[in-house]
Amino acid sequence: MVSRKSLRVLGIETSCDETAVALVEAVNGGVRVRKHLVSTQIPIHARYGGVVPEVAARSHVPETVALITQVLGRRGIETFDAIAVTHGPGLSTALGVGVEAARTLAFVSGKPVIGVNHLEGHIASAWLSAVNRRYWKFPLLALIVSGGHTELVLMSRVGGYQIIGATRDDAAGEAFDKSGKLMGLPYPGGPQIARLAKQGDPGSIPLPRPMLYDPSFDMSFSGLKTAVRQTWEANETIREQETFKANMAASIQQAIVDVLIEKTLAAARMYHVMGVLLVGGVSANECLRESLFIRLKREMPEVRFLPSDRRFITDNAAMIAAAGLWHFQNGEQDDWRTLDVHPELSLETA
Ligand code: KG4
Ligand code: ZN
Repeated sequence: MVSRKSLRVLGIETSCDETAVALVEAVNGGVRVRKHLVSTQIPIHARYGGVVPEVAARSHVPETVALITQVLGRRGIETFDAIAVTHGPGLSTALGVGVEAARTLAFVSGKPVIGVNHLEGHIASAWLSAVNRRYWKFPLLALIVSGGHTELVLMSRVGGYQIIGATRDDAAGEAFDKSGKLMGLPYPGGPQIARLAKQGDPGSIPLPRPMLYDPSFDMSFSGLKTAVRQTWEANETIREQETFKANMAASIQQAIVDVLIEKTLAAARMYHVMGVLLVGGVSANECLRESLFIRLKREMPEVRFLPSDRRFITDNAAMIAAAGLWHFQNGEQDDWRTLDVHPELSLETA
């Protein structure tokens, strides 16, 4: 372990379509984000209607070098005491870019490196907010909702994660994105649907809420996609009208939010958690944030609502550095010689 009073961790994230590098510093049991840079590839992938893995990996190479150079500045490797890098889950070749950069930096600097689970990073994104840290008491329940993952995770301690519920097919973000694509909206569909939904009536188009009354905490969103397609095809004559599109968007959003909220509240009740984290790209959704906040306040006022700060919702490296910090403070690290990518990495082994 490093002996410096305030540990500074360099974070690197390249698991999907965002290249990100950040520097965080441990302060009084908490953390301060000193630098936080993200370069998104969304405009590149929008041309293809989704993420193209090879394109993502190739784009990460120059961006990773550029962002690391910016974050290190003139002080170079003296800027940090340790390196945290996303090593999974994610796109194999994309993850490889960050992992190789981290291994090289560890070799050159002689400083410790650790591979971080991307989903643990999303959990740590909620801890980056000072107000959340005040109420950070275990057990916590995390609703992780992103483009590739929808999981309900019980956190008993740092490194202690139990997946108590997950989607059996599409992730919530995928349900948003695929619905958006069907409606001819630009990629990614999530923010587009959220924008259109503001003018629509969420009760206007009946859509399924799969597994809502199933006693497990598992979810399913592929049936919703099918229903969206059928409704879209059945309304060929009016579907380009703004009102119809807005009603469609509001109904899709409500169906997804209803399932996420009911499952989260049921899990929070069953496991008597102290707080509920809302993290991942879909947590940017206003309707989801507000509804979860209101329902928790009304039905479980003793449970704190701990959403991640807006700055750290979508993929970033500050959250990876923060999760790395947890592990370094526990005395853990990896060997740079053997650090590798794990595209299917599970949170339960983080
Ligand atoms: O966590 P994230 O940035 O990347 C992954 O790790 O997947 O999540 C991206 C997902 C996309 O599916 C995107 O459509 C969705 O988050 N998203 C939203 C909103 N903003 C982003 N979904 C619904 N409403 C939003 N406002
Ligand atoms: Zn993510």
